[in-house]
Amino acid sequence: MCLDSAFADRIFLDNTRVRVEFQKAMSRFFLQVYGCQMNQYEAGVVRDILERSGYTETSEEKNADVLLMLTCAVRSHAERRALGRLGTFRGLKDARRKTPDASSVIIGVLGCMSQNLRKNLAADHAADLIIGPDQYRRLPELIDKARETKVPQFALDQTEECYDDIIPGPSHPVRAFITVMRGCNNFCSYCIVPYTRGKERSKPLTRVLAEATALAGQGIKDITLLGQNVLAYHDQSNDFRELLEAVSEIPGIARIRFLTSHPKDLDEQVLSTIARIPKVCPALHLPIQSGSNRILKLMRRGYTREEYLAKIALAREYLPELNLTTDIMVGFPSETDSDFKDTLELVRTIGFDFAYMFRFSVRPGTQAVELGPKVSEAVAGQRLTRLIEVQNRITRERNSEMLNRTHELLIESPGPRQGMLGRTRTNRAVIVHSRLSIGQTVTCQVTRIQGWTPIAEVLGTEVPVPQ
Ligand code: SAH
Ligand code: SF4
Ligand code: F3S
Repeated sequence: MCLDSAFADRIFLDNTRVRVEFQKAMSRFFLQVYGCQMNQYEAGVVRDILERSGYTETSEEKNADVLLMLTCAVRSHAERRALGRLGTFRGLKDARRKTPDASSVIIGVLGCMSQNLRKNLAADHAADLIIGPDQYRRLPELIDKARETKVPQFALDQTEECYDDIIPGPSHPVRAFITVMRGCNNFCSYCIVPYTRGKERSKPLTRVLAEATALAGQGIKDITLLGQNVLAYHDQSNDFRELLEAVSEIPGIARIRFLTSHPKDLDEQVLSTIARIPKVCPALHLPIQSGSNRILKLMRRGYTREEYLAKIALAREYLPELNLTTDIMVGFPSETDSDFKDTLELVRTIGFDFAYMFRFSVRPGTQAVELGPKVSEAVAGQRLTRLIEVQNRITRERNSEMLNRTHELLIESPGPRQGMLGRTRTNRAVIVHSRLSIGQTVTCQVTRIQGWTPIAEVLGTEVPVPQ
């Protein structure tokens, strides 16, 4: 057992063992978060677990006794960035060794990259903790164990964990995420997520409602329900539509959003439910990935471009104000100029409000590793640049459609130049220059677009919150 910590506090003796309890309140953790919204949510889970065990968070990494990073593995770039940061963490650990207190700093890598790179993180990168997305509850125990034994601790078992009893405190005054599903069963051929996050499972509706109610009590008005594939939500007895209905009955919650929708699961019943419930915002994030049927098939996406187009047409019928966003990938193995043209053409036809655009990144262990021929970095780069040009133009056009229209704005935070930043129901950020408080809902008219940002004038401040 290691007694090198300056924080060793109380020593209990019982018949069988000596137990050292560190004075955790003195132990500070620093948490760096990478990756998707689900990681942002899970950062709250990790904070809750550590704070309940007596740790306090610090934003100063050089003061931390435990340096943690919550990682992403979706593209190699995400992993490289985290590994670079791990180098900084090692530097801080070495620096602490040279100080008079010489206590050991524990470095922990949590999340998808841990699940993916496993042993390499300890062997090549000197991590003390390698903890997968289902094992965050073990953090306090494993930090102690790593201190005591000075041996890297691994916790990578995949379980049905949903952290349903944990309600992370919101990190924003009016907006919060709730993860309602974890894992993914789709196995798109390029994607690492089903391997890092395991099988799809849903949080029981009663727990989602308890969480949303608690958040509403803390002033949260805008909730985003998260899942890798959120339309597939189902607990023992409720599906996604019932989830929307139930969350919409919570007083105080004015806006309900959800991410990410898989095109194969979007149907007329879901669309009619979204359209019928006033609190559910008319916004869909519906990753298309490619406009070529041949590539979509190789990706195992489960829809064709024609099916996708038909769903968008239906969605726009039900939700005339629809804000449609997407993810698109270029340079998938065997993608030809003609496949890429299909993507460009579809992007122009649909007119997405916004798109996240990526260059394919091969993920060892996924099926796409076997596919060829590879598209060269140079060609993939050119395609990405071209796609971004085309989509940026469309995004500007969609933005300019906001001009002179009236929007309902929920004020979220101070904005640039003494303004306030608000968000429309369609999830657009708008700046207003009026004296308003965070949490207020106002109507406004967009008068100009500055760069990418719509600027608006407030018309009225008495907008009733849907109950
Ligand atoms: N569950 C969501 C998103 C998962 S990851 C969905 O089903 O769409 C977010 C986005 O990252 C994906 O939509 C995809 O566009 C991109 N992505 C996933 N794997 C990738 C890879 N290997 N290379 C490049 N982009 C990838
Ligand atoms: Fe990855 Fe496909 Fe699952 Fe999305 S649906 S997380 S892209 S496997
Ligand atoms: Fe990345 Fe894991 Fe999210 S791989 S995108 S952090 S689910």
